[in-house]
Amino acid sequence: STPILPTDQPPLLHHAVEEAVRLLQAGDVVALPTETVYGLAADALNPQAVAKIFEVKERPTFDPLIVHLADIKMLDLVADIPEEVKKTVARLIERYWPGPLTLLLPKKPCVPDLVTAGLPTVAVRISSHPIFKRVATALNRPIAAPSANRFGAISPTSASAVLAELGGRIPLIVDGGACLHGLESTIIKVTPATPKNLITIVRPGPVTPEDLKLYGRLERMTRTVVDGASEAPGQLASHYAPRTPLRLLSKPSDFTPEEGKRYALMSYRGEEKDGYLDLADFEQVMILSPGNGKLPEAAVRFFYVLRELDKLGVDEIIAEPMLEHGMGVAMMDKLRRASVRPA
Ligand code: TXA
Ligand code: MG
Repeated sequence: STPILPTDQPPLLHHAVEEAVRLLQAGDVVALPTETVYGLAADALNPQAVAKIFEVKERPTFDPLIVHLADIKMLDLVADIPEEVKKTVARLIERYWPGPLTLLLPKKPCVPDLVTAGLPTVAVRISSHPIFKRVATALNRPIAAPSANRFGAISPTSASAVLAELGGRIPLIVDGGACLHGLESTIIKVTPATPKNLITIVRPGPVTPEDLKLYGRLERMTRTVVDGASEAPGQLASHYAPRTPLRLLSKPSDFTPEEGKRYALMSYRGEEKDGYLDLADFEQVMILSPGNGKLPEAAVRFFYVLRELDKLGVDEIIAEPMLEHGMGVAMMDKLRRASVRPA
């Protein structure tokens, strides 16, 4: 099936980067680690290469891709920054690039329509992952990279998760270990407004609403989309879905097991006290943040835990709700989407 190249020694890293660049130059796809989740990379300016991403992921072409730059100098090549939002965008870039923040900006003509699904905007970010950076710099072209999973499935945060999703379909996986954040980048749009520009969170992620409100008036896009004709294609109602049905509890005490059914629990802290869940009702309990209940720690384990619970073949995965602040906003958004069954 697909080779996984290790990078934990300098000569191995060198070889893996070289192989990845060679494949990308030849118009092929490669799975690469980023600080958020693993990405399925292709040369963003080569429509044939980009088409392979859609084919491999079985992704509908109405769902546009994120373009990753090697450095800030490349921004000019793919996007414009409207004068009215220049200041705000510059401050955000200064603070969060390279990092887990994606900006929607008016696209330049060289960006293929397939990348943006025909939209006038392009999603751009710079990854801070050292391996991704080396590949992007050596290739010296923008890289289109969605999460390296099949469409609608759980995003991969390790090389083995990529293999489970796309093994046999792609020529190479570069193993960069576990992802630092574990959740996809925050996607935002900045629109001119007075006295403060408007920041719309299109997809919540590691850069939190609390972080972003320092840069403009915040608006959270809540509209859930069921078809492709929208401003945020890809923000579909059903997404991140395990094969096992998932139920998000509105409060922990809401759960009563049905006779004869097998359940697994995704627990935030694994607490067991009065009015809470009886952990004995579950065949397996996996805790997102054992011990101290820290949201960033939970985020790193989030997709891993979801993937592991999905392997058990139980009747239902039960998910405890989390606090909706910080990275809890992104995790709750994903749990809501994961609990909607695909049509
Ligand atoms: O952290 C990340 O962002 C990862 C890593 C690999 O960089 N990438 C990622 O890509 O999550 P993907 O394709 O799985 O999610 C990209 C999202 C999609 O929901 C897509 O609809 C949205 O970005 N998107 C891309 N271009 C857009 C555009 N022009 N307007 C609105 N939404 C856009
Ligand atoms: Mg994705």
